[in-house]
Amino acid sequence: MNVLVIGGGGREHALVWKLRHSPLVERLYCSPGNPGMTEAECIGPADFEHLADFAKRQHIGLTVVGPEGPLCAGIVDVFRARGLTIFGPDREAAQLEGSKAFAKAFMGRHGIPTAAYGRFTEAATALQHLAAHGAPIVVKADGLAAGKGVTVARTADEAAQAVRDCFSGAFGEAGRTVVIEECLVGEEASILALTDGRTIVPLASAQDHKAVGEGDTGPNTGGMGAYSPAPVVTPELWRLIERDVLGRFLAGCQKDGLDFRGVIYAGIMVTANGPRVLEFNVRFGDPETQAILMRLDSDLAEAMLATAERRLDSVRLRWSADPAVCVVMASKGYPGAYGKGDPIAGLEDAAAAGAVVFHAGTAAKDGRLVTAGGRVLGVTARGPTLRQARDTAYAAVDRIHWRGAFCRRDIAHRALARQATP
Ligand code: AMP
Ligand code: GLY
Repeated sequence: MNVLVIGGGGREHALVWKLRHSPLVERLYCSPGNPGMTEAECIGPADFEHLADFAKRQHIGLTVVGPEGPLCAGIVDVFRARGLTIFGPDREAAQLEGSKAFAKAFMGRHGIPTAAYGRFTEAATALQHLAAHGAPIVVKADGLAAGKGVTVARTADEAAQAVRDCFSGAFGEAGRTVVIEECLVGEEASILALTDGRTIVPLASAQDHKAVGEGDTGPNTGGMGAYSPAPVVTPELWRLIERDVLGRFLAGCQKDGLDFRGVIYAGIMVTANGPRVLEFNVRFGDPETQAILMRLDSDLAEAMLATAERRLDSVRLRWSADPAVCVVMASKGYPGAYGKGDPIAGLEDAAAAGAVVFHAGTAAKDGRLVTAGGRVLGVTARGPTLRQARDTAYAAVDRIHWRGAFCRRDIAHRALARQATP
């Protein structure tokens, strides 16, 4: 089978890397891809119709969509209308990520535990709600805002500013509706699951590090590192998540007639009162996927094809017990403004240290590999213990250099602290 992956970041590199292990996969393409993807032929960017033309011409048996943008814009609908097999929710179901108000209403209808909230389309009523509830409180632009639309406001002023920013167009269309939520307290976990609309199969748990600075300080990023499994998800909590989040999610899709054949990612806050869903994403997490796929022993292509063809009940996923850690190396300044075009050295040494280096923001220039994004590389390793996996990842990180490279030195700190306390 020939396979096409859509996207070009670290998550897509991890998908391509894992798909390349599958005996089912013959030719593997990625659009646009990135220079690290030696496992695939990168075909550059194209619009949905041209990608569907390509898929027809090259006899693509399965297309896998990485990012939320194309899913929310309806790539799945375009491909299915052309009789192509594609992994991902259709445009309607993708609103579970594309609109926070849609997701909150879905959770409310189907009894999925989440923060209390209000939905507003005018600044005046939103500000009244803030005045009545006080801080801390969470203000979210309804639509896709590249991870920047959420403000966890510590003060009433900060919350009011976030509301004004949304309605004054800071996030464009995405901010025309605002969701204001109760502020939850706890540790976060990322729970991903494959679903074909009939069956739901959880993947290994993970935790992501969103803040840019060590000790989870500073502004939020797309994710500075991740590890799997996440020990905060105890067996008891896992049962609750399966029943109250994943089970109700599947039942909800069935009741609402949503065509969801892909991966659902529930961002969970583990509160004193049990798990609460912070958000749904309708795609793989980045960088969670880099860590999770390092632990998957089963054939990913087979599982994804079964998902797209509604045969997921035939799939059993096998996982390595060995934990995995992904450390993101970023460009100085990220998540603010950062430079580009700095030559990257040491990737072969890093691989020799036992890590797999997934590319996220790299480019080829005059035959050299250079930086081309905020998050540049995801240095990922597996080990018999979490500590060993982490040590291997950092040993590899220490062999990679470019001007202005930085990373967090404390990836997996919560899990390691948990293990240290009896
Ligand atoms: P979201 O994009 O909705 O997941 O929000 C991004 C981040 O904001 C989450 O990973 C949390 O760290 C934080 N967050 C979102 N919603 C809440 C909430 N209701 N209470 C506390 N923190 C939140
Ligand atoms: N790592 C967070 C996300 O993928 O949304």
